[in-house]
Amino acid sequence: MATWRQRLPHREGVFLFPKGSGMQKNKTILDFQKMKAHGERIAVLTCYDFPTAGIMDDCGIDMILIGDSVGVVVAGYDNTLPVTMEEMIYHTKAVLRARPKAFVVADLPFLSYQTDLTSARLNAGRLIKDGGAAAVKLEGGKNVADTIAAIVDMDIPVMAHIGLTPQSLHRMGGFKVQGKGEEQAEKLLEDARAVERAGAFSVVLEGIPASLAGRITAELAIPTIGIGAGPACDGQVLVLHDILGLCSKYSPKFVKRYAELAPLISEAVSSYIAEVKAGTFPEERHSFK
Ligand code: KIV
Repeated sequence: MATWRQRLPHREGVFLFPKGSGMQKNKTILDFQKMKAHGERIAVLTCYDFPTAGIMDDCGIDMILIGDSVGVVVAGYDNTLPVTMEEMIYHTKAVLRARPKAFVVADLPFLSYQTDLTSARLNAGRLIKDGGAAAVKLEGGKNVADTIAAIVDMDIPVMAHIGLTPQSLHRMGGFKVQGKGEEQAEKLLEDARAVERAGAFSVVLEGIPASLAGRITAELAIPTIGIGAGPACDGQVLVLHDILGLCSKYSPKFVKRYAELAPLISEAVSSYIAEVKAGTFPEERHSFK
């Protein structure tokens, strides 16, 4: 992981360290502003552990999100509501041990920022100080604008998240597409404007009509990162376990599976069991003299 000095941009966006010094490799929020300005798409994936962080960083991922989706795809909870700060810090630390060059954002879990600004600031600070993330993400629009502003005021970059916000599962009555119809669409546009005004450096648009995501993307100066929000967003994010075909339990329409790892794992584990039972593993080459 780069130290804060390595990450520190000069006020005008000129790095303090000379080109070629190896000090400029890490992605920062300034890169995402530039990418939006140049129409370069931003590729984001969730990640929760050391080995996959290293692999996806070597592939050149722009941003890594330690999402509270970890609760569902790794811990096996039914939804993200039970996820704790300790769990988020544990996974954030694991990802940061891979020293990714990608920009690392960690999710503020349910109940870590909704009750009061002091706990929101403290918990955001913990994801940076204890976890090592460069930014935090939280869910909500106008209703969390003050919270975003309070965290940004501590010089912690905040990614907003509007539309289908999984922590609002019970209010939404399930995981349903949001922003349908002009009234709802106008409300989401207001949310998008509010989080930008509050100082968010970027906003996730989840589960909303593609045309509405296009309107929001065209209006905002900050990059939009879509998930189930169509192709017009400035970038896309998906859950790693979904694209790898590791989670057969949930497969929303917006997911594209780039691999089917579950049957591969199953095959490997079955072969291992069979060889142990048959006494064909370990062989001499796996044993010490
Ligand atoms: O928790 C998560 O993984 C997320 C993304 C899906 C945006 O919030």
